[in-house]
Amino acid sequence: MLALGVVLLLSYLVGSIPSSIWVGKLVKGVDIRNHGSGNAGATNTFRLLGWPSGVTVLGIDFFKGFASSLWISQLAYYIASGPVALFDFWSVDPFLSITCGLAAIIGHMFPLYANFDGGKGMATAAGMLCGIEPVSVGIAAVVFTVVMVASRYVSLASLVAAFVYPLVLVMLRFGFGWELDGSILIFGALAGLGIIVKHRGNIKRLLNGTENQVSSFKPAVG
Ligand code: G3P
Repeated sequence: MLALGVVLLLSYLVGSIPSSIWVGKLVKGVDIRNHGSGNAGATNTFRLLGWPSGVTVLGIDFFKGFASSLWISQLAYYIASGPVALFDFWSVDPFLSITCGLAAIIGHMFPLYANFDGGKGMATAAGMLCGIEPVSVGIAAVVFTVVMVASRYVSLASLVAAFVYPLVLVMLRFGFGWELDGSILIFGALAGLGIIVKHRGNIKRLLNGTENQVSSFKPAVG
């Protein structure tokens, strides 16, 4: 129990690293939350600061989820059983892995180091889920790309991918008979739901026709 608490806390602290806010302050001296969509995430960084900053933030946010689900989760074994436990670089108990990944997503959405005002969790969720079951993430990434290219709305692509992801898991588990742990189905659906809830503002803008499109992405903070 102590081991689980420690790895969840660590994952939350790693997820809390507000990369877009720090990159915005470092590169242009601005708080990204006061510009563009106001979201502390990779999309708004691309929009406001351009590609190099956007790619950097995307990579860091993805890695926060990936490292939490795949590596930080394994520290629980060491805390519980000492240094005899072997570190497996590519697999870990599914429940530990997904709860640590979720703690990182919560950290990203409500970061300790940025007044609990963070991003929407897409990149961190993709990283976390990649560490657990990469095929389903690959399918959701294809859906994301198709919707984004067709509509030129990143938010719409995120919403559709978050909605489709749990359905992909159900299809793999029950349609193709893949051995997926039940916790992945439940917490994968929870992650999708959390992302959709965090996109409330985007849904309103999409409905009233004021949402930003990708074509308008150029560094907006000079
Ligand atoms: O992942 C976030 C994206 O779907 C929307 O970002 O900045 O347009 O609210 P943004």
